[in-house]
Amino acid sequence: MNVQTPHNPYLQGPFAPVHAEVDAHDLPVIGELPRDLHGMFVRNGSNPRFAPEGRYHWFDGDGMLHGLRLDGGTASYANRWVRTRGFREEEAAGKALWTGIMERPDLSRRGGPFKDTANTDLVFHDGRLLALWWLGGKCHAVALPSLETLGVQDFKGTLKGGVSAHPKRDPITGELMFMTYGVMPPYLTYGVVSGEGEVVLREPIAIPGARLQHDIAVTERHTILMDLPLLWDPELLARGKTRVRFRRDMPARFGIVPRRSTDVRWFEAASCYMYHTINAWEEGDTVVLVGCRIDDPIPEAPDDRPIPHLDVLRLMPYLHEWRFDLATGEVKERQLDDVMTEFPRMDNRRLGRRTRYAYAPRIAAARELLFDGVIKYDTEAGTQAAYGYGPGRFGGEVVFAPKDGSSAEDDGYLVTFVHDAREGRSEAVVLDAKDVAKGPLARVLLPARVPIGYHAWWVTEPELASQKGAEGLRQV
Ligand SMILES: [Fe+2]
Repeated sequence: MNVQTPHNPYLQGPFAPVHAEVDAHDLPVIGELPRDLHGMFVRNGSNPRFAPEGRYHWFDGDGMLHGLRLDGGTASYANRWVRTRGFREEEAAGKALWTGIMERPDLSRRGGPFKDTANTDLVFHDGRLLALWWLGGKCHAVALPSLETLGVQDFKGTLKGGVSAHPKRDPITGELMFMTYGVMPPYLTYGVVSGEGEVVLREPIAIPGARLQHDIAVTERHTILMDLPLLWDPELLARGKTRVRFRRDMPARFGIVPRRSTDVRWFEAASCYMYHTINAWEEGDTVVLVGCRIDDPIPEAPDDRPIPHLDVLRLMPYLHEWRFDLATGEVKERQLDDVMTEFPRMDNRRLGRRTRYAYAPRIAAARELLFDGVIKYDTEAGTQAAYGYGPGRFGGEVVFAPKDGSSAEDDGYLVTFVHDAREGRSEAVVLDAKDVAKGPLARVLLPARVPIGYHAWWVTEPELASQKGAEGLRQV
Protein backbone atom coordinates (compact mmCIF):
# COMPACT_ATOMS: atom_id res chain seq x y z
CA MET A 1 0.00 0.00 0.00
CA ASN A 2 1.34 3.42 -0.83
CA VAL A 3 1.32 6.02 1.90
CA GLN A 4 -0.54 8.38 -0.43
CA THR A 5 -3.38 5.91 -0.92
CA PRO A 6 -6.42 7.79 -2.22
CA HIS A 7 -8.73 5.88 0.12
CA ASN A 8 -7.79 7.59 3.35
CA PRO A 9 -8.47 11.31 3.92
CA TYR A 10 -6.05 11.27 6.87
CA LEU A 11 -3.14 10.62 4.51
CA GLN A 12 -4.03 13.46 2.15
CA GLY A 13 -4.42 17.20 1.84
CA PRO A 14 -3.94 18.97 5.18
CA PHE A 15 -3.28 15.60 6.88
CA ALA A 16 -0.70 14.24 4.41
CA PRO A 17 2.49 13.24 6.22
CA VAL A 18 5.72 15.11 5.59
CA HIS A 19 8.93 13.23 4.90
CA ALA A 20 11.71 15.64 5.82
CA GLU A 21 13.10 16.88 9.10
CA VAL A 22 13.85 20.57 8.83
CA ASP A 23 15.62 23.32 10.79
CA ALA A 24 15.06 26.94 9.81
CA HIS A 25 15.92 30.24 11.49
CA ASP A 26 14.90 33.90 11.20
CA LEU A 27 11.60 33.03 9.60
CA PRO A 28 9.66 35.68 7.67
CA VAL A 29 6.89 37.30 9.68
CA ILE A 30 3.79 39.16 8.53
CA GLY A 31 2.94 41.66 11.24
CA GLU A 32 5.12 41.83 14.32
CA LEU A 33 6.04 39.22 16.89
CA PRO A 34 5.59 40.45 20.46
CA ARG A 35 8.86 41.56 22.09
CA ASP A 36 7.63 40.23 25.43
CA LEU A 37 7.08 36.65 24.24
CA HIS A 38 9.89 34.14 24.80
CA GLY A 39 9.50 30.39 24.77
CA MET A 40 8.68 27.52 22.48
CA PHE A 41 5.47 26.18 20.98
CA VAL A 42 5.64 22.45 20.30
CA ARG A 43 2.93 20.35 18.70
CA ASN A 44 2.66 16.59 18.44
CA GLY A 45 0.92 14.63 15.70
CA SER A 46 0.65 11.47 13.67
CA ASN A 47 3.07 11.26 10.74
CA PRO A 48 3.83 7.75 9.41
CA ARG A 49 7.51 7.32 8.52
CA PHE A 50 6.76 4.43 6.14
CA ALA A 51 3.79 3.40 4.02
CA PRO A 52 1.35 1.86 6.51
CA GLU A 53 1.06 -1.88 6.81
CA GLY A 54 -2.61 -2.78 6.43
CA ARG A 55 -5.51 -0.39 6.95
CA TYR A 56 -4.44 2.97 8.33
CA HIS A 57 -6.13 4.94 11.09
CA TRP A 58 -5.17 8.56 11.81
CA PHE A 59 -4.18 7.52 15.34
CA ASP A 60 -1.54 5.05 14.04
CA GLY A 61 1.15 7.35 12.62
CA ASP A 62 4.59 7.86 14.17
CA GLY A 63 4.80 10.83 16.50
CA MET A 64 6.29 13.90 14.89
CA LEU A 65 6.97 17.10 16.81
CA HIS A 66 6.85 20.52 15.19
CA GLY A 67 8.42 23.32 17.20
CA LEU A 68 8.36 27.08 16.90
CA ARG A 69 10.94 28.91 19.01
CA LEU A 70 9.87 32.51 19.67
CA ASP A 71 12.55 34.75 21.09
CA GLY A 72 11.29 38.28 21.56
CA GLY A 73 10.72 39.07 17.90
CA THR A 74 12.47 36.28 16.02
CA ALA A 75 11.21 32.83 15.15
CA SER A 76 12.78 29.49 14.25
CA TYR A 77 11.24 26.16 13.32
CA ALA A 78 12.23 22.52 13.59
CA ASN A 79 10.45 19.21 13.20
CA ARG A 80 11.53 15.75 14.31
CA TRP A 81 10.03 12.32 14.64
CA VAL A 82 10.03 10.93 18.16
CA ARG A 83 12.61 8.12 18.10
CA THR A 84 10.50 5.44 19.77
CA ARG A 85 11.61 1.83 19.84
CA GLY A 86 9.11 0.94 17.12
CA PHE A 87 10.29 3.84 14.99
CA ARG A 88 13.93 2.72 15.31
CA GLU A 89 13.04 -0.87 14.45
CA GLU A 90 11.18 0.25 11.35
CA GLU A 91 14.01 2.62 10.38
CA ALA A 92 16.44 -0.30 10.59
CA ALA A 93 14.12 -2.48 8.49
CA GLY A 94 13.39 0.30 6.00
CA LYS A 95 9.67 -0.41 6.10
CA ALA A 96 6.64 -0.60 8.38
CA LEU A 97 6.70 -3.59 10.72
CA TRP A 98 3.55 -2.82 12.68
CA THR A 99 -0.09 -2.77 11.76
CA GLY A 100 -2.46 -0.25 13.30
CA ILE A 101 -5.68 -0.27 15.25
CA MET A 102 -7.83 -1.07 12.21
CA GLU A 103 -6.26 -4.51 12.00
CA ARG A 104 -6.72 -7.47 14.31
CA PRO A 105 -4.23 -7.00 17.17
CA ASP A 106 -1.35 -9.47 17.55
CA LEU A 107 -1.57 -10.03 21.28
CA SER A 108 1.56 -12.18 21.29
CA ARG A 109 3.77 -9.35 20.09
CA ARG A 110 6.50 -8.16 22.46
CA GLY A 111 5.82 -4.56 23.46
CA GLY A 112 2.53 -4.75 21.55
CA PRO A 113 -0.02 -5.25 20.28
CA PHE A 114 0.26 -1.73 18.87
CA LYS A 115 3.29 0.48 18.26
CA ASP A 116 3.86 3.05 20.99
CA THR A 117 4.18 6.07 18.71
CA ALA A 118 4.28 8.85 21.35
CA ASN A 119 2.20 10.79 18.81
CA THR A 120 -0.54 12.36 20.92
CA ASP A 121 0.27 14.75 23.71
CA LEU A 122 3.01 16.78 25.39
CA VAL A 123 3.69 17.89 28.93
CA PHE A 124 6.68 19.70 30.45
CA HIS A 125 7.50 18.12 33.78
CA ASP A 126 10.59 18.07 36.01
CA GLY A 127 12.85 19.72 33.45
CA ARG A 128 11.82 17.73 30.41
CA LEU A 129 9.27 17.88 27.63
CA LEU A 130 7.58 14.49 27.42
CA ALA A 131 5.80 13.07 24.36
CA LEU A 132 2.91 10.77 25.23
CA TRP A 133 0.67 8.26 23.49
CA TRP A 134 -3.14 8.10 23.63
CA LEU A 135 -3.25 4.37 24.36
CA GLY A 136 -0.72 4.69 27.18
CA GLY A 137 2.99 4.17 26.68
CA LYS A 138 6.43 5.39 27.59
CA CYS A 139 7.19 9.03 28.39
CA HIS A 140 9.66 10.00 25.66
CA ALA A 141 11.78 12.99 26.70
CA VAL A 142 12.91 15.40 23.99
CA ALA A 143 15.52 18.17 24.02
CA LEU A 144 14.55 21.75 23.20
CA PRO A 145 14.79 23.50 20.87
CA SER A 146 16.30 20.65 18.81
CA LEU A 147 13.40 18.20 19.42
CA GLU A 148 15.90 15.32 19.45
CA THR A 149 14.73 12.33 21.49
CA LEU A 150 16.74 12.09 24.72
CA GLY A 151 15.38 8.87 26.17
CA VAL A 152 12.55 7.45 28.25
CA GLN A 153 11.55 9.08 31.53
CA ASP A 154 10.71 6.35 34.03
CA PHE A 155 11.05 8.62 37.06
CA LYS A 156 14.19 7.05 38.55
CA GLY A 157 12.78 3.61 37.87
CA THR A 158 9.66 4.23 39.97
CA LEU A 159 7.21 4.05 37.06
CA LYS A 160 5.95 0.54 36.37
CA GLY A 161 3.82 0.55 33.26
CA GLY A 162 2.67 3.28 30.94
CA VAL A 163 1.25 6.77 31.09
CA SER A 164 -1.65 7.79 28.85
CA ALA A 165 -1.94 11.11 27.09
CA HIS A 166 -3.21 14.07 29.13
CA PRO A 167 -1.50 13.78 32.48
CA LYS A 168 -2.05 16.95 34.49
CA ARG A 169 0.84 18.90 35.99
CA ASP A 170 0.03 20.97 39.05
CA PRO A 171 1.59 24.36 38.30
CA ILE A 172 2.35 25.03 41.97
CA THR A 173 3.52 21.68 43.37
CA GLY A 174 4.92 20.22 40.14
CA GLU A 175 3.07 16.94 40.77
CA LEU A 176 1.96 15.04 37.69
CA MET A 177 -1.34 13.17 37.88
CA PHE A 178 -1.91 10.49 35.25
CA MET A 179 -4.02 7.49 34.34
CA THR A 180 -3.57 4.51 32.12
CA TYR A 181 -6.10 1.98 30.95
CA GLY A 182 -6.49 -1.36 29.29
CA VAL A 183 -8.93 -3.71 27.61
CA MET A 184 -7.99 -6.30 30.23
CA PRO A 185 -7.98 -5.68 34.01
CA PRO A 186 -6.99 -3.39 35.52
CA TYR A 187 -9.20 -1.32 33.24
CA LEU A 188 -8.15 1.93 34.85
CA THR A 189 -5.04 2.84 36.84
CA TYR A 190 -4.44 6.16 38.56
CA GLY A 191 -1.03 7.54 39.42
CA VAL A 192 0.84 10.53 40.82
CA VAL A 193 4.45 11.57 40.21
CA SER A 194 5.80 13.91 42.87
CA GLY A 195 7.29 17.29 42.09
CA GLU A 196 10.65 15.63 42.82
CA GLY A 197 10.07 13.21 39.95
CA GLU A 198 9.18 9.94 41.67
CA VAL A 199 5.99 7.90 41.38
CA VAL A 200 4.28 8.12 44.77
CA LEU A 201 1.01 6.44 43.81
CA ARG A 202 0.01 4.00 41.09
CA GLU A 203 -3.04 1.90 41.85
CA PRO A 204 -5.98 0.39 39.97
CA ILE A 205 -9.37 2.08 40.24
CA ALA A 206 -12.21 -0.43 39.96
CA ILE A 207 -14.61 0.15 37.07
CA PRO A 208 -17.03 -2.43 35.67
CA GLY A 209 -15.31 -3.02 32.34
CA ALA A 210 -13.00 -1.79 29.60
CA ARG A 211 -13.64 1.79 28.54
CA LEU A 212 -12.09 4.01 25.89
CA GLN A 213 -10.47 6.46 28.28
CA HIS A 214 -8.87 9.68 27.17
CA ASP A 215 -8.48 12.42 29.77
CA ILE A 216 -8.64 13.32 33.44
CA ALA A 217 -8.96 16.60 35.34
CA VAL A 218 -7.48 17.86 38.59
CA THR A 219 -8.34 20.42 41.24
CA GLU A 220 -6.02 21.60 44.02
CA ARG A 221 -6.93 18.59 46.13
CA HIS A 222 -8.75 16.12 43.90
CA THR A 223 -8.47 14.21 40.64
CA ILE A 224 -11.47 13.43 38.44
CA LEU A 225 -11.42 10.09 36.65
CA MET A 226 -14.06 8.90 34.22
CA ASP A 227 -16.16 5.83 33.56
CA LEU A 228 -17.99 6.94 30.41
CA PRO A 229 -20.11 4.44 28.51
CA LEU A 230 -17.93 4.21 25.42
CA LEU A 231 -16.85 0.67 26.01
CA TRP A 232 -15.04 -2.17 24.44
CA ASP A 233 -17.79 -4.67 23.66
CA PRO A 234 -17.39 -7.26 26.46
CA GLU A 235 -18.84 -10.19 24.47
CA LEU A 236 -16.53 -9.56 21.55
CA LEU A 237 -13.61 -8.98 23.92
CA ALA A 238 -14.21 -12.43 25.36
CA ARG A 239 -13.76 -13.79 21.83
CA GLY A 240 -10.54 -11.82 21.36
CA LYS A 241 -12.06 -9.04 19.25
CA THR A 242 -11.81 -5.38 20.11
CA ARG A 243 -14.70 -3.16 19.16
CA VAL A 244 -16.05 -0.01 20.75
CA ARG A 245 -19.73 0.59 21.53
CA PHE A 246 -21.57 3.52 23.07
CA ARG A 247 -24.25 2.62 25.61
CA ARG A 248 -26.77 5.45 25.81
CA ASP A 249 -28.63 3.55 28.50
CA MET A 250 -25.70 3.80 30.87
CA PRO A 251 -24.86 6.94 32.85
CA ALA A 252 -21.64 8.87 32.61
CA ARG A 253 -19.75 8.32 35.87
CA PHE A 254 -17.17 10.71 37.25
CA GLY A 255 -14.89 9.35 39.98
CA ILE A 256 -13.41 11.92 42.34
CA VAL A 257 -10.40 10.92 44.44
CA PRO A 258 -8.28 12.93 46.85
CA ARG A 259 -5.04 13.60 44.94
CA ARG A 260 -2.84 10.95 46.56
CA SER A 261 -5.57 8.42 47.22
CA THR A 262 -7.61 5.76 45.46
CA ASP A 263 -10.60 6.36 47.72
CA VAL A 264 -12.92 7.05 44.82
CA ARG A 265 -16.38 8.51 45.05
CA TRP A 266 -18.53 8.13 41.94
CA PHE A 267 -21.05 10.69 40.67
CA GLU A 268 -23.56 9.85 37.94
CA ALA A 269 -24.45 12.30 35.18
CA ALA A 270 -26.34 12.10 31.90
CA SER A 271 -24.88 9.61 29.45
CA CYS A 272 -22.14 11.14 27.29
CA TYR A 273 -18.61 10.82 26.03
CA MET A 274 -15.81 13.36 26.39
CA TYR A 275 -12.34 13.38 24.90
CA HIS A 276 -11.03 16.51 26.56
CA THR A 277 -11.56 18.33 29.79
CA ILE A 278 -10.54 21.98 30.03
CA ASN A 279 -10.15 22.53 33.75
CA ALA A 280 -11.61 21.71 37.13
CA TRP A 281 -11.57 23.47 40.48
CA GLU A 282 -13.17 23.57 43.88
CA GLU A 283 -15.80 26.02 45.10
CA GLY A 284 -16.33 25.11 48.74
CA ASP A 285 -17.70 21.56 48.77
CA THR A 286 -18.34 21.64 45.04
CA VAL A 287 -15.99 20.28 42.39
CA VAL A 288 -16.54 22.08 39.09
CA LEU A 289 -15.51 20.45 35.80
CA VAL A 290 -15.59 22.11 32.37
CA GLY A 291 -15.02 20.14 29.18
CA CYS A 292 -16.19 19.34 25.66
CA ARG A 293 -19.16 16.98 26.06
CA ILE A 294 -20.36 14.73 23.24
CA ASP A 295 -23.96 13.59 23.59
CA ASP A 296 -23.61 10.52 21.38
CA PRO A 297 -20.22 9.64 19.89
CA ILE A 298 -21.41 6.75 17.70
CA PRO A 299 -24.80 7.42 16.13
CA GLU A 300 -24.68 4.21 14.07
CA ALA A 301 -23.13 0.95 15.10
CA PRO A 302 -19.88 0.58 13.19
CA ASP A 303 -18.95 -2.65 11.49
CA ASP A 304 -16.60 -5.10 13.09
CA ARG A 305 -13.58 -2.83 13.28
CA PRO A 306 -11.35 -2.51 16.31
CA ILE A 307 -11.99 1.19 16.87
CA PRO A 308 -14.54 3.19 14.90
CA HIS A 309 -12.93 5.16 12.16
CA LEU A 310 -13.38 8.90 12.56
CA ASP A 311 -15.94 8.95 9.78
CA VAL A 312 -18.36 7.02 11.97
CA LEU A 313 -17.56 8.89 15.16
CA ARG A 314 -19.87 11.85 15.59
CA LEU A 315 -17.66 14.62 16.87
CA MET A 316 -20.29 17.05 18.10
CA PRO A 317 -18.73 18.41 21.28
CA TYR A 318 -20.13 21.37 23.15
CA LEU A 319 -18.70 23.30 26.08
CA HIS A 320 -20.26 21.86 29.22
CA GLU A 321 -20.06 22.28 32.96
CA TRP A 322 -20.61 19.68 35.67
CA ARG A 323 -20.86 20.54 39.36
CA PHE A 324 -20.31 17.69 41.84
CA ASP A 325 -21.38 18.46 45.39
CA LEU A 326 -19.10 16.49 47.72
CA ALA A 327 -21.37 17.24 50.70
CA THR A 328 -24.71 16.15 49.24
CA GLY A 329 -23.67 13.91 46.32
CA GLU A 330 -25.76 16.05 43.98
CA VAL A 331 -24.72 16.58 40.36
CA LYS A 332 -25.70 19.61 38.30
CA GLU A 333 -24.77 20.02 34.68
CA ARG A 334 -25.40 22.46 31.88
CA GLN A 335 -24.29 23.14 28.34
CA LEU A 336 -22.42 26.44 28.11
CA ASP A 337 -22.40 27.06 24.38
CA ASP A 338 -23.99 25.86 21.15
CA VAL A 339 -20.94 26.05 18.87
CA MET A 340 -18.95 22.87 18.39
CA THR A 341 -15.42 23.12 19.77
CA GLU A 342 -12.72 20.63 20.72
CA PHE A 343 -9.03 20.46 21.74
CA PRO A 344 -9.67 23.16 24.37
CA ARG A 345 -6.92 24.80 26.40
CA MET A 346 -6.58 27.29 29.21
CA ASP A 347 -3.88 29.24 31.03
CA ASN A 348 -1.79 26.35 32.41
CA ARG A 349 -0.58 28.48 35.32
CA ARG A 350 -4.14 28.15 36.68
CA LEU A 351 -4.67 24.43 36.17
CA GLY A 352 -6.79 23.05 38.98
CA ARG A 353 -7.74 26.54 40.13
CA ARG A 354 -10.82 28.47 39.12
CA THR A 355 -10.41 29.85 35.63
CA ARG A 356 -12.51 32.25 33.67
CA TYR A 357 -11.20 31.77 30.14
CA ALA A 358 -10.89 28.86 27.73
CA TYR A 359 -9.46 28.85 24.21
CA ALA A 360 -11.11 26.29 21.97
CA PRO A 361 -10.69 25.50 18.27
CA ARG A 362 -13.97 25.71 16.35
CA ILE A 363 -14.93 22.62 14.38
CA ALA A 364 -15.28 23.23 10.64
CA ALA A 365 -18.09 21.81 8.53
CA ALA A 366 -15.97 19.05 7.03
CA ARG A 367 -15.93 15.27 6.96
CA GLU A 368 -12.54 15.19 8.65
CA LEU A 369 -11.73 16.81 11.97
CA LEU A 370 -10.68 20.33 10.96
CA PHE A 371 -10.80 23.62 12.86
CA ASP A 372 -11.65 26.82 11.00
CA GLY A 373 -11.17 29.25 13.87
CA VAL A 374 -10.70 29.69 17.58
CA ILE A 375 -13.22 30.75 20.21
CA LYS A 376 -12.19 32.42 23.44
CA TYR A 377 -14.78 31.70 26.09
CA ASP A 378 -15.39 33.90 29.10
CA THR A 379 -17.26 31.36 31.23
CA GLU A 380 -18.02 33.88 33.99
CA ALA A 381 -19.60 36.51 31.77
CA GLY A 382 -21.03 33.87 29.41
CA THR A 383 -19.55 35.66 26.41
CA GLN A 384 -17.15 34.70 23.69
CA ALA A 385 -14.92 36.15 21.03
CA ALA A 386 -13.96 34.36 17.84
CA TYR A 387 -11.38 34.58 15.11
CA GLY A 388 -11.84 32.65 11.87
CA TYR A 389 -8.75 31.66 9.90
CA GLY A 390 -10.41 32.33 6.53
CA PRO A 391 -11.51 30.14 3.61
CA GLY A 392 -9.47 26.98 3.17
CA ARG A 393 -7.38 27.70 6.27
CA PHE A 394 -7.39 25.31 9.22
CA GLY A 395 -5.77 25.62 12.63
CA GLY A 396 -4.89 23.22 15.39
CA GLU A 397 -4.84 23.24 19.14
CA VAL A 398 -4.34 26.79 20.41
CA VAL A 399 -2.09 27.21 23.42
CA PHE A 400 -1.88 30.09 25.83
CA ALA A 401 1.62 31.64 26.01
CA PRO A 402 2.13 34.03 28.93
CA LYS A 403 3.65 37.43 28.38
CA ASP A 404 7.10 37.80 29.99
CA GLY A 405 6.70 38.55 33.69
CA SER A 406 2.90 38.28 33.70
CA SER A 407 0.89 36.33 36.25
CA ALA A 408 -2.75 37.32 35.66
CA GLU A 409 -4.93 34.85 33.81
CA ASP A 410 -5.24 35.65 30.10
CA ASP A 411 -2.30 38.08 30.14
CA GLY A 412 -0.47 36.76 27.11
CA TYR A 413 -0.83 35.34 23.63
CA LEU A 414 -2.38 32.45 21.77
CA VAL A 415 -0.27 30.39 19.39
CA THR A 416 -1.29 27.76 16.84
CA PHE A 417 -0.27 26.37 13.47
CA VAL A 418 -2.55 27.22 10.56
CA HIS A 419 -2.54 25.24 7.34
CA ASP A 420 -3.61 26.91 4.12
CA ALA A 421 -5.10 24.07 2.10
CA ARG A 422 -5.43 26.13 -1.05
CA GLU A 423 -1.78 27.15 -1.09
CA GLY A 424 -0.48 23.94 0.49
CA ARG A 425 1.63 25.79 3.06
CA SER A 426 1.59 26.42 6.77
CA GLU A 427 2.21 29.26 9.17
CA ALA A 428 2.16 29.91 12.87
CA VAL A 429 -0.34 32.48 14.09
CA VAL A 430 0.11 34.59 17.22
CA LEU A 431 -2.99 36.29 18.65
CA ASP A 432 -3.44 38.68 21.55
CA ALA A 433 -5.32 36.59 24.12
CA LYS A 434 -7.16 39.69 25.31
CA ASP A 435 -8.35 40.57 21.81
CA VAL A 436 -8.76 37.39 19.82
CA ALA A 437 -11.26 38.84 17.35
CA LYS A 438 -8.70 41.38 16.17
CA GLY A 439 -6.81 38.65 14.34
CA PRO A 440 -3.11 37.83 14.30
CA LEU A 441 -0.46 40.11 15.71
CA ALA A 442 1.97 38.02 13.70
CA ARG A 443 1.93 35.28 11.08
CA VAL A 444 5.17 33.32 10.93
CA LEU A 445 5.64 31.74 7.51
CA LEU A 446 6.96 28.21 7.92
CA PRO A 447 9.51 26.59 5.60
CA ALA A 448 7.55 23.34 5.44
CA ARG A 449 3.97 22.20 5.61
CA VAL A 450 2.77 21.17 9.06
CA PRO A 451 0.12 18.45 8.78
CA ILE A 452 -2.96 18.74 10.99
CA GLY A 453 -2.09 17.08 14.29
CA TYR A 454 -3.01 16.69 17.91
CA HIS A 455 -1.90 18.34 21.12
CA ALA A 456 0.53 21.15 21.78
CA TRP A 457 2.42 22.69 24.68
CA TRP A 458 3.92 26.10 25.36
CA VAL A 459 7.31 25.77 27.04
CA THR A 460 8.16 28.99 28.87
CA GLU A 461 11.59 30.61 28.81
CA PRO A 462 12.33 29.63 32.45
CA GLU A 463 11.35 26.04 31.57
CA LEU A 464 13.66 26.08 28.53
CA ALA A 465 16.46 27.33 30.77
CA SER A 466 15.74 24.67 33.41
CA GLN A 467 16.00 21.73 31.03
CA LYS A 468 17.80 18.63 32.13
CA GLY A 469 19.74 16.42 29.75
CA ALA A 470 19.68 12.67 29.18
CA GLU A 471 21.04 11.85 32.63
CA GLY A 472 18.74 9.55 34.56
CA LEU A 473 16.72 8.62 31.49
CA ARG A 474 16.46 5.11 30.13
CA GLN A 475 17.45 4.33 26.59
CA VAL A 476 14.46 4.10 24.27
FE1 LIG B 1 -6.40 14.14 23.35
